Amino acid sequence: TERSLVLVKPDGVRRGLTGQVLARIEAKGYTLAALQILTPDRARLEQHYAEHEGKPFYEPLLEFMSSGPVCAVVVEGERCIEGFRALAGTTDPTAAAPGSIRGDLGRDWGSKVQQNIVHGSDSPESAAREIGIWFPGL
Ligand code: GTP
Ligand code: MG
Repeated sequence: TERSLVLVKPDGVRRGLTGQVLARIEAKGYTLAALQILTPDRARLEQHYAEHEGKPFYEPLLEFMSSGPVCAVVVEGERCIEGFRALAGTTDPTAAAPGSIRGDLGRDWGSKVQQNIVHGSDSPESAAREIGIWFPGL
């Protein structure tokens, strides 16, 4: 069965939304297979966001993501990668559909980077790579 790496980002943890995000994942029928709260260091974030290096939002993104604790979760279930991305909604929280995590709980805060509460792996290859970064040995 498929696995996805989900992060409740620092804005989500700071706003006390971790429980709601986890509850939505469980209500959808997926399993929480591993879970950890930590403030990520720069080296880990450089690995995680390697594909975005050089983009204008890259530095603000790393700054934001290291600004406080995140909740890293391995989610398990058939097609949970696609399923969690549907739960999360589109990247821009202003435009994300109501009913989704970003659409219901997110907004534009005027920050240089989109503070959109959650991250979810976008393919089985990304999931395997990202689980290795956040849960080495799993
Ligand atoms: P998807 O776009 O659905 O893949 O969500 P994602 O969270 O995986 O986004 P992506 O991997 O494209 O980018 C990583 C993160 O960088 C996003 O979640 C945002 O926080 C931020 N980001 C992405 N694109 C932009 C952008 O165009 N402008 C700004 N300011 N931030 C962005
Ligand atoms: Mg992405």
